Amino acid sequence: MLPVITLVCLCLPAPFVSTASFDASAAQRRAAFANVGAPVTNVSLPVLDGISSLTPNTTFVIPNASSSVESAGAFDYRQALRLPWQYLKAERLGKLPADNGIPWRADSFLDDPVPNGLADAGDFLVCNFPLGQSLTLLGLSLVEFGEGYAAAGATADALDALRWGLDFLVASRVSDTETVVQVGNSGTSHSFWLPAEQADRAEGARPAYKVSPSVPGSDVQGAMAGALAVGSIVYSDEDDAYSRHLLANARDLYALATSFPGTYNSVQDAAAIYPSSGFQDDLAFAGALLHLKTNESHYLSDAQRYYGQAGELSTYGFSWDTKNAGAALYLGLLLPQPAAQPYLQAVSSYLDSFKDGKNGVTLTPKGFSFLSKWSSLRYSLSAATIGSIYAKRVPSDPSTHHFQCWVQRQVDIVLGSNAGFSYLIGFGSKYPQQPHNRGSSCKGPTGVCGFDTFNSAAPNPNTLIGAMVGGPDANDAYKDIRNNFEQNEPSIDGITSLLSPLAYTASSSIQC
Ligand SMILES: *[C@@H]1O[C@H](CO)[C@@H](O)[C@H](O)[C@H]1NC(C)=O
Ligand SMILES: *[C@@H]1O[C@H](CO)[C@@H](O)[C@H](O)[C@H]1NC(C)=O
Ligand SMILES: *[C@@H]1O[C@H](CO)[C@@H](O)[C@H](O)[C@H]1NC(C)=O
Ligand SMILES: *[C@@H]1O[C@H](CO)[C@@H](O)[C@H](O)[C@H]1NC(C)=O
Repeated sequence: MLPVITLVCLCLPAPFVSTASFDASAAQRRAAFANVGAPVTNVSLPVLDGISSLTPNTTFVIPNASSSVESAGAFDYRQALRLPWQYLKAERLGKLPADNGIPWRADSFLDDPVPNGLADAGDFLVCNFPLGQSLTLLGLSLVEFGEGYAAAGATADALDALRWGLDFLVASRVSDTETVVQVGNSGTSHSFWLPAEQADRAEGARPAYKVSPSVPGSDVQGAMAGALAVGSIVYSDEDDAYSRHLLANARDLYALATSFPGTYNSVQDAAAIYPSSGFQDDLAFAGALLHLKTNESHYLSDAQRYYGQAGELSTYGFSWDTKNAGAALYLGLLLPQPAAQPYLQAVSSYLDSFKDGKNGVTLTPKGFSFLSKWSSLRYSLSAATIGSIYAKRVPSDPSTHHFQCWVQRQVDIVLGSNAGFSYLIGFGSKYPQQPHNRGSSCKGPTGVCGFDTFNSAAPNPNTLIGAMVGGPDANDAYKDIRNNFEQNEPSIDGITSLLSPLAYTASSSIQC
């Protein structure tokens, strides 16, 4: 359990980048996590029925735009849901489409061993372990909350963002048995503070780190398989050939992941950035999602078995590393009762911990559920992703209404209930000016940039619209300074964790 975005050294001016500082930071991160992720305490639920149908092997039909769905609450959630797509476009590497729409971006890294990636955060590494989870979060938000997207008029943008990422995952399969898991070396990448359009020349030829039968990577292949399975559901109606292509790749990756078991931590440069605490959770979630797509019973029984091996569900149960809570949620929704009950109960307990501030979660004075100082919002929002889907599908849990209101409160914190300041850039009138992001802080493809720019007190010249920064601390405090990478570095997994809670809030009329 060694989470966090770790792009620590990238934050230091070049002269201070050294192996020693990198290792020290890694040790700090591990220490920071020693006290979180306590097992959730079981709550006792009546046997839940009235689970609204989640039928495997059905076609997902994207809802048409409609304004008939009302949303209640303090903010314009639909406006917020129209923003993240700009950030996801700003993070694209490779050959950009003619209509990419980000004036300060141009083609970059055209010679990458797997081209057309999506940078993970404030640098230009492409990391498939968190990317797989991020695309799963994006795809599930469409499957579950298509009405919210339709009401916001955001469906087409979301599909476009999803496809860019899924195409990269498929392209990462460089042979039948070899899968690229990361493009770019972290040490090299972090030693420059340049826009992508200049960093490509500075970094030179970039490595591709691979897993294969002799170098296991069940975690990353599981994360990729899950994303592709969800993608194949999303496109089932709108592009059948593409949907089948995604499913075929999902099946292959899952088969490789289960045939050659092990974490990908032996790929040292990947594990230095996004280390994996285990692979059974990834396979449990992937199996459940493959069952959702195919209705094949072996995926479901695999998912139950891997879930049982993955260790107890803790409050650190849903992130780019850990997927137990996602597996429990979908096992609970896909299995018939009474087999579903222990999974639903585990999810309800997990959500209770966040709602009430227990088992490592601190409830701040503003009502923010704080788990970790390393991009705090990603943890409250990935739990709120679970909460949104559970609240929609399990209305019979007596806690469901409280979970709905808790989800809305976490979304409101992002949008400005903390002193009118929005952590989503471009939303409202006050939002971060110095996000830790190279492209946004530099002057554009040809402008002069470097660690002097990084250290300058000036706001970023390019507004990183649609990005969500890391978030506040356990006392609701936050500093908008570029070198504050704990709180001020937007990431792909961060923004995608906002999507389900936001689309849910945008299309429901919860009275809290
Ligand atoms: C929760 O309940 C399950 C099954 O009833 C049990 O195996 C597990 O040990 C319990 N966990 C805690 C923390 O009480
Ligand atoms: C799913 O598979 C089961 C058999 O395992 C079958 O009874 C059911 O009809 C299938 N559902 C769908 C929607 O295909
Ligand atoms: C969307 O609109 C098209 C054309 O107006 C219609 O044919 C289709 O059935 C609609 N789909 C849904 C899900 O309402
Ligand atoms: C899934 O549905 C298709 C028809 O839509 C059916 O032919 C197939 O047998 C189903 N698969 C399972 C495993 O239920």
